[in-house]
Amino acid sequence: MNIDILLGLQWGDEGKGKIVDALTPEYDIIARFQGGPNAGHTIEFNKTKHVLHLIPSGIFHEGKINIIGNGVVLDPVVFRREVESLGIDIGTVRGRLLISLKAHLILPTHKFLDAAHENALGDFKIGSTLRGIGPAYTDKAARSGIRVGDLLKKNFRELYNEHVTEHLRALKGYGRSYDLVGLENEWFEAAEFLKGFKTVNADYYIDRSLREGRCVLAEGAQGTMLDIDFGTYPFVTSSNTVAAGACTGLGIAPSRTGEVFGIFKAYCTRVGSGPFPTELNDENGQLMRDRGNEYGSTTGRPRRCGWLDLPALRYAIMINGVTRLFMMKADVLSGFSEIEVCTSYTVNGEEVTELPFCLAGIEKLNYHTMAGWSCDITGCKNWDELPEALRHYIEFIEKETGVPVTIVSVGPDRSATVYR
Ligand code: GDP
Ligand code: IMO
Ligand code: MG
Repeated sequence: MNIDILLGLQWGDEGKGKIVDALTPEYDIIARFQGGPNAGHTIEFNKTKHVLHLIPSGIFHEGKINIIGNGVVLDPVVFRREVESLGIDIGTVRGRLLISLKAHLILPTHKFLDAAHENALGDFKIGSTLRGIGPAYTDKAARSGIRVGDLLKKNFRELYNEHVTEHLRALKGYGRSYDLVGLENEWFEAAEFLKGFKTVNADYYIDRSLREGRCVLAEGAQGTMLDIDFGTYPFVTSSNTVAAGACTGLGIAPSRTGEVFGIFKAYCTRVGSGPFPTELNDENGQLMRDRGNEYGSTTGRPRRCGWLDLPALRYAIMINGVTRLFMMKADVLSGFSEIEVCTSYTVNGEEVTELPFCLAGIEKLNYHTMAGWSCDITGCKNWDELPEALRHYIEFIEKETGVPVTIVSVGPDRSATVYR
């Protein structure tokens, strides 16, 4: 068996949680491969809404295994809160969840460092979620991180103290000092809670599972335009959000990857700072925000909105080797009399269809205008029920990208999904 990968093609919040949950019945194992509590993956079913940050989006399904992979940075406090708010008996969650021994831990001081670093950036803030992601990955790359497996060591407290002393020294450099006592107590209690879960060599576990014929879906966080290498650097997150990140974040060989499902919204959104070529600072952008309820699942911040950006989408498809596209939030565009799609940019007076190194150098965006549709599509169950104008819009995207759109999402609920 090969492992399928599902990931975001834009700036995150494409609807990954909803679709992973909807596809879980087809898989045995769902494995998160990167990111941490900066993610907010929303799942809706039976009139209830859940937002997951660390736990893979297959957790609500009986008989499925969910894995937090080595590529994830895990905050025990967020983890505990999340497990306790799932509405599932903790014993059942323990039976459905495995945690990689190699996943790195977010310490309380990582969050302080995140805030201090953002603050020092003045007018050029990244717009971080301030969950300690950047500093935790920095420690990982600097070979000074602490991993889940270290929690089991007798001298863990010593190890922890060494790291925190270093962090506090760095924070002094930012002119800040912190009282950690209360936070540390909470963190250590949460770390004990975490130790009650099964920790494994997830790489071996996944390898064995694939050889035994079990189906695995890798779940990405964030999106391609937030990737540390391929996103709009430096306004990105600190991990590889692309398909290659599934290999390093779970320990799977590239030769064992199967389908790559690329998720995109029918328009674009971005939360936080950084370039966003098709951003609309007008009533259309506000309409998308209102109709799409475009407010961050993790921080509640309003998301910036704009038309679909095909050069960026094609780039993401190329980097990830996307085999199927899933279009999300098509219902949000209902009611726009015309839909615009950016097909190319003008850079140095020339029309280009590739993403330039510096997006700030884009002089003009070239749009293709298409007819909109006005009817409510949230009840549509199959392709033929979708309005003709929406089908034309999707077919146009397929023609421009060369990849089929096989799922069209028409509402936040698990059931509001059109399979093609
Ligand atoms: P993720 O981070 O990629 O999992 O996406 P988020 O959960 O952060 O953001 C997606 C938001 O859109 C959530 O509030 C979802 O409930 C919602 N959503 C997902 N699919 C659809 C859809 O097709 N239509 C509408 N209206 N909302 C959707
Ligand atoms: P999901 O998985 C949208 C953005 C932040 C900020 C930048 C860096 O829900 O799609 P970080 O906290 O990682 O240092 O922030 O990345 N960001 C996200 N935007 N969805 C996410 O995750 C995000 N995770 C981080 O807003 O601009
Ligand atoms: Mg999200």
